[in-house]
Amino acid sequence: MMRSPATPSIDGVHDPFGALMEITSRPPVVFVEGRGSWMRDQNGRAYLDFIQGWAVNCLGHCPDAITKAIAVQAGRLLNCSPSFYNEPMIRLARLIAQHSGLHRTFFTNSGAEAIEGAIKLARKWGQKYRNGAYEIITMDHGFHGRTLAAMSASGKPQWKQLFEPKVPGFPKVPLNDLEKVEEAVTSRTVAVMLEPIQGEAGVFVASNAFLQELRALTKRANILLILDEIQTGIGRTGRFFGFEHAGVAPDIMTLGKGLGGGLPLGALVAHEDVSCFDHGDQGGTFNGNAFVTAVGCAVMEEIAKPGFLPNVVQTGAYLSDRLEALSRKHGGGGVRGKGLLLALDLGRDIGPAVAAEALRRGLLINAPRPDSLRFMPALTVAQDEIDQMISILDATLEHCVGSR
Ligand SMILES: Cc1ncc(COP(=O)(O)O)c(C=O)c1O
Repeated sequence: MMRSPATPSIDGVHDPFGALMEITSRPPVVFVEGRGSWMRDQNGRAYLDFIQGWAVNCLGHCPDAITKAIAVQAGRLLNCSPSFYNEPMIRLARLIAQHSGLHRTFFTNSGAEAIEGAIKLARKWGQKYRNGAYEIITMDHGFHGRTLAAMSASGKPQWKQLFEPKVPGFPKVPLNDLEKVEEAVTSRTVAVMLEPIQGEAGVFVASNAFLQELRALTKRANILLILDEIQTGIGRTGRFFGFEHAGVAPDIMTLGKGLGGGLPLGALVAHEDVSCFDHGDQGGTFNGNAFVTAVGCAVMEEIAKPGFLPNVVQTGAYLSDRLEALSRKHGGGGVRGKGLLLALDLGRDIGPAVAAEALRRGLLINAPRPDSLRFMPALTVAQDEIDQMISILDATLEHCVGSR
């Protein structure tokens, strides 16, 4: 069995990792604190964080707005059971409605759970209004989470044979290929589901034209458009939601990651006409608890402040320009993405080696595929932090490309 290569001790306890289930290869670093774009490990070493909990800490580590909301809500009410209303739950649902144009929200504890909810809601709508239609067309290389139905909906090639048999009913088509979607629509089809930008696949953008044509097609065929905004939502692309770039509105949207600013919070959001669950169809012990939704409100209020999103656009353009220059210098294939969800095409399969070397140099970046790096910093990242990141990455690439 694979084990982490080295085992630093915590408080003198030998092999502190032995009690954790081995689900991935983690570097032998234990993080103990974070602030803004920086984290510190148990030895006091600082790291510049361009992963941010996988695009989760949209306001950076431990921002004042969130720590204050946590402290206030922790002393007021944590969980009054999902069978009762609580005040932050109502406030957050209203904020989402106000900014998305959709009407109804069901809160979840993760992105994958929001996807499960979206699949269930679409199937329920299909049962009620489309003669039991249940198939949801999804995209090759799409990523929707790690519950069984979310994995079945995902188009990650490595998952094809995993945990068989999968949940049926998710025919796959290539991203940005409307003809293939049209061919896949049958009387069994109830919806099309996709990410506005495929993040985990390596930051591949659904074109505005494709999203617009897809919206028109789904309307014509009387099927639903589900947008997975778990990675692209909450300001990540420079707009509140990724779909705004294309000027389309989905019937159902899923949120996660940035919504809780670091705490586990997702949302299934739907147009009034599609919100057709009957009592008992959907629920969960922790869903919509006052503690986490209060934090969600704090996040939404920060993102909605005048100047916040224009600043994301500006910072994203700056990061993109600096990455383009690095790409030209080191012979890469350019930059993909929008706002502060960007990927650098390295032009060769050195992504994991670059990410490992960057970590040794105090920079956290992610290689979602062998030939690319992904950048998902705090939306509040400062220009001089981008400069510091570029400088470490430049030296890292020099080292990795030079040593090949
Ligand atoms: C687009 C997208 N959908 C769904 C998920 C799953 O979210 P979670 O990990 O919170 O279950 C992710 C996570 O990376 C994602 O990027």
